Amino acid sequence: MNKAIISGMGFYVPDNVVRNADLTGFMETSDEWIQERTGIKERRWIDDPQENTTSMGVKAAERAIKDAGIDKSDIDFIIFATLSPDYYFPGPGVSVQEQLGLDTIGALDVRNQCSGFVYGLSVADQYIKTGMYKNILLIGSEYHSGGLEKTTRGRSVSVIFGDGAGAAVVSASDDPDRGILSTHLHSEGKHAEELTLIGPSTSRWVDRIMSENDPLDTSYYPYMNGNFVFKHAVTRFPQVIMEALQANNKQPSDIDLLVPHQANLRISQFVQRSMKLNDDQVFNNIQKYGNTTAASIPIAIAEAIAEGKIKDGDLVCLAAFGSGFTWASALMVW
Ligand code: UT7
Repeated sequence: MNKAIISGMGFYVPDNVVRNADLTGFMETSDEWIQERTGIKERRWIDDPQENTTSMGVKAAERAIKDAGIDKSDIDFIIFATLSPDYYFPGPGVSVQEQLGLDTIGALDVRNQCSGFVYGLSVADQYIKTGMYKNILLIGSEYHSGGLEKTTRGRSVSVIFGDGAGAAVVSASDDPDRGILSTHLHSEGKHAEELTLIGPSTSRWVDRIMSENDPLDTSYYPYMNGNFVFKHAVTRFPQVIMEALQANNKQPSDIDLLVPHQANLRISQFVQRSMKLNDDQVFNNIQKYGNTTAASIPIAIAEAIAEGKIKDGDLVCLAAFGSGFTWASALMVW
């Protein structure tokens, strides 16, 4: 059976840097509060009207394809993970097919929010293993900033999220010593409304929102029960990481680099402490980009490689938790 490897990585973030101090211009917050509670110093927010989830994803994808050393015509499938698609439908996978000028290959959209990249990687891994595809383009991209409630009322959510995209080329390999060892996926839908954006949707159509014209309606902004999500995150991250390690007879000390979804620096630090990992074993860059949901892990992997923190042969663990709730992990030899 084929092994799946990540053969190329790339990321793209908008140029516009929004520092914590910039947010104090339109809400009651402070650099001190944001850094102490989340670790975030700045994030990127789109300010170019031409930019969107697909365009960022395409730029990240072009870099990943170049990094993989293949021609874009070698891509035989697209997987696109996002919670902020350009359109309600169709999903952005087809726009990537069009904008990259690819043949009429399949395009799949993944809706698993912060776990989207790891879910997408798991799908890609299965297709590669069965021999159905040879080079899958996997993208995580998010344009959050346009839809956040950037006021004091919305501050506990809006200060956290950033825009950006990351992409991977997942390829077939016959090298027995490299590749994805296993992926582990979970969900618990009873908590769906603890981190959600309800409307506009089929449960809250636009005409209903407009006819109610309720100034107190916040259903079209993301909602997060922060403390509740935090408590579940710090439990599920270590669980799903241990699940991946145990499935492969490994210990936490065997991990060369853990790349957790960048939800909150305090969550990553909590996970690091509870698993007794040292600083060199965990990669964080939420300080620069905020929480970019499905894009956070591929952006972090690409930066970790650029900084020399992932090398061939390293044992790399990815782990994510978020809206759904969904959580997931992947273990691979780079
Ligand atoms: O990626 C998907 C998964 N997401 C997560 O894992 C996020 C999990 N949750 C969190 O990261 C944290 O819960 C938050 C960062 C969202 C919030 O931090 P917290 O320590 O849980 O704060 P809190 O919501 O309990 O709020 C504490 C206080 C409140 O004021 P009072 O009621 O104590 O007077 C808030 O109104 O902080 C206030 N507050 C703020 N103050 C300044 C909330 N947001 C802000 C803000 N600036 N941006």
